[in-house]
Amino acid sequence: MPRIFKNEAALTPEYIPSKLPHREEQLKQLETYFSGFLEDPGSMYPKVVLIGRPGSGKTVTSRKFGNYVVRSSERVRYVHVSCFLNRTLSSVLKDIGVQLNIAIPKRGGFSTEELLKMLLDMVREKDIYAIVALDDVFHLVNNSGPHALGTLIRLGEEYVSRGGDKYRFGLILISQDLTFRDQLDRSSQSALGNAVIRFEPYTKDQIFEILLARAQEALIDGVYDEEILEMIADVAGVDEHLMDEHRGGDARYAIDILWRASKLAEMKGADRILPEHVREAIKNTLRGIRSDELRMLPLHEKIFLLAIVRSLMKNPNSPYIPFGTAEDEYQMLCEQYGQEPRKHTQLWEYLRDLNTKGFVETRTSSKGMRGGRTTLISIPSEPPGNVRGGVGKDN
Ligand SMILES: Nc1ncnc2c1ncn2[C@@H]1O[C@H](COP(=O)(O)OP(=O)(O)OP(=O)(O)O)[C@@H](O)[C@H]1O
Ligand SMILES: [Mg+2]
Repeated sequence: MPRIFKNEAALTPEYIPSKLPHREEQLKQLETYFSGFLEDPGSMYPKVVLIGRPGSGKTVTSRKFGNYVVRSSERVRYVHVSCFLNRTLSSVLKDIGVQLNIAIPKRGGFSTEELLKMLLDMVREKDIYAIVALDDVFHLVNNSGPHALGTLIRLGEEYVSRGGDKYRFGLILISQDLTFRDQLDRSSQSALGNAVIRFEPYTKDQIFEILLARAQEALIDGVYDEEILEMIADVAGVDEHLMDEHRGGDARYAIDILWRASKLAEMKGADRILPEHVREAIKNTLRGIRSDELRMLPLHEKIFLLAIVRSLMKNPNSPYIPFGTAEDEYQMLCEQYGQEPRKHTQLWEYLRDLNTKGFVETRTSSKGMRGGRTTLISIPSEPPGNVRGGVGKDN
């Protein structure tokens, strides 16, 4: 059978490519912001915020910077914490501890203040310096409130001001927008400062170059031509005149399509990737949805998403369903799964989260049942059957 991949891992979401086209500027900025800390650890407490839409390269650029940190300094470590996975202050602190190889008790009994103190004591005792990246930090704020983040921002500072120690940390906060900053109290806001690095959505040409670089690492020479990559760039890149739309310019989406098209070519025994493979891959790739995020949604949020999908499939003639319909379906599903249903207000939280992540779209109608306003929910651009597969898998 003809081979398509030479290194399939290079098309997975976790892979850190050797080059990051069009993010050289952002990398350089990171290096500049942290150069003082790297040269003389403990002398300052640099903090910077990375902002950009989904798939604009924030996570991969920060990790790449992490590799640079480890290469260029013997003393400073890099710690990358996903606030999607760690949504509370204590869970973030524990994850930092694990990555720094510091023994912090895994189980309860300790307040976050105690955990924080343990972490700082150990960091001092072991003479550790670290740049900590808090990825998707809005999850922490949404789940645990702004105070949790405020505490983290002032992590090293209070210790120093009490005359105890040097600055042990640098901080990178990663988010899709700046709303989390507005929620912080004033002193945390001012402690955070104004250093922001922006990640603009990728244009079609930029997506093309990113795909080319990834294809060179992942695929055997000659199994793809540029026309294939252009097809993908056309659907994934942002249009100049659509610049302010919510979606587009998403490299994750583009790479996902390339991976699926390559996989299809391989499955069908083709000796190269053909336009039909790309077309089919596009059809099967849910725009803006992150399969890793889908997998990691809390159980009840997943059930609620499944309820939305089911309601939409039961009403194939309408692109939207009212919130109430989804809620009824959710109740039924809970019964089916033997789960205690979450409260109405919690479902609104889920809906907001699903909306932020691009799983669903919502709009308000004025033609509600009793003349009131109703929230309508839809799933953008793709047949809902695809989501059903994804949700079903882990339930
Ligand atoms: N400039 C680039 N060159 C090569 N690959 C890239 C580039 N930018 C992004 N990617 C790839 O695209 C995918 C998405 O990037 P990344 O995870 O960094 O996005 P993000 O901005 O963190 O998105 P989100 O807000 O959804 O977390 C990853 O697989 C990443 O490796
Ligand atoms: Mg990310």
